[in-house]
Amino acid sequence: MKTTEDLIPNFENHLESHAYQKLRKEAFDYIARGAGAEATMQANRHAFDKWKIRPRVLRDVSKRDHTVSLFGRTMKTPILFAPIGVQRIAHPDGELGSAKSAGALEVPYIVSSAASYAMEEIARVSGNNIRWFQLYCSLEDCVTESLVKRAEASGYSAIVITVDTPLLGLRKADSRNGYSPLSEGNGCGNYFSDPAFCGLLEKLPNEDLESALMKQIEIIDRPSLNWGDFKKIRSYTKLPILLKGILHPDDAQLALEHDVDGIIVSNHGGRQLDHCISSLDALPDICQVVNGRIPVLLDSGIRSGVDVFKAIALGADAVLLGRPYIYGLAIDGEAGIARVIEDILHELDVSMALSGARSLCDINSHLLVEA
Ligand code: FNR
Repeated sequence: MKTTEDLIPNFENHLESHAYQKLRKEAFDYIARGAGAEATMQANRHAFDKWKIRPRVLRDVSKRDHTVSLFGRTMKTPILFAPIGVQRIAHPDGELGSAKSAGALEVPYIVSSAASYAMEEIARVSGNNIRWFQLYCSLEDCVTESLVKRAEASGYSAIVITVDTPLLGLRKADSRNGYSPLSEGNGCGNYFSDPAFCGLLEKLPNEDLESALMKQIEIIDRPSLNWGDFKKIRSYTKLPILLKGILHPDDAQLALEHDVDGIIVSNHGGRQLDHCISSLDALPDICQVVNGRIPVLLDSGIRSGVDVFKAIALGADAVLLGRPYIYGLAIDGEAGIARVIEDILHELDVSMALSGARSLCDINSHLLVEA
């Protein structure tokens, strides 16, 4: 049974409570909650709250430019949809709804390996919108290779390798609820449509669903994930490759040495390692190492346009929006997502104007103080 106790303490977000009304308890917990005691999740919010904007005035802000260029393509806004799997647990349209909404808004979309629908179906509803593919490097090389090659063939323009998930974090609410959306078949879109994956099965998923789901869970992550895997994945594709889940400046340095094309500073929204540094706190040291050589993006804890502003001020080129768009999806499908994104972009625009920033380049650390 659902009670208000289930809501994250001190997280006064009407979006979250509205989504809570719409979702069954297990699905809400899977989306909203984090690993362990949720100290990482709390750190993510605290990190944003501790920075205050110190605005500049008298700067003619009648025109504002929110564009950013990444890998040779201009984006209208510095926001992307984070890769979020199993979206059918939030709404029957799942990724088809969120990718359509992203396309209509022209906000780039990152498809998860664990999407409810196949990447080719999601590509079809995306139109010309920029789309990237997020890869969980598989225990089986043939599956990893096949996923990457399918993404390139179906018009994805970058590969995002998630590196903070060699195995799943300890999600206590899911254990209590005895819930796994993958076991329910909500994250099999890319696997059941994959010839390499199906080649590992004795019987096809439509003949033996249980065994196919168990196989997916067995091979989805790669506990031995290391820099050698990155080199192998590099040989599968010509697309730019970003690493998602970098938090240590030494790993940022290694990423540069391995010719990684971009970094996403992320702690997976506090769903993996508990008592972990917040992404925002990790950002400045990483930007110092990278020194503008490759794009640095950030996610984990972004809830508003002001948060986007702060992340950019501390060095991010762009940010990924996570749970808020899933709450929008749960509340009202595509239209719900549009409202969430439009609100955030509007607040970013007004915050820029009121702090004297005419473009994203004007948003820098001089506009912030830690208070
Ligand atoms: C995620 N995230 C995630 N990341 C990833 O690389 N692959 C995935 O399949 C998923 N799936 C997923 C499911 C759900 C329900 C959530 C909430 C998150 C992590 C996601 O990309 C992003 O890092 C976080 O959502 C950012 O944190 P916030 O802003 O949601 O707190």
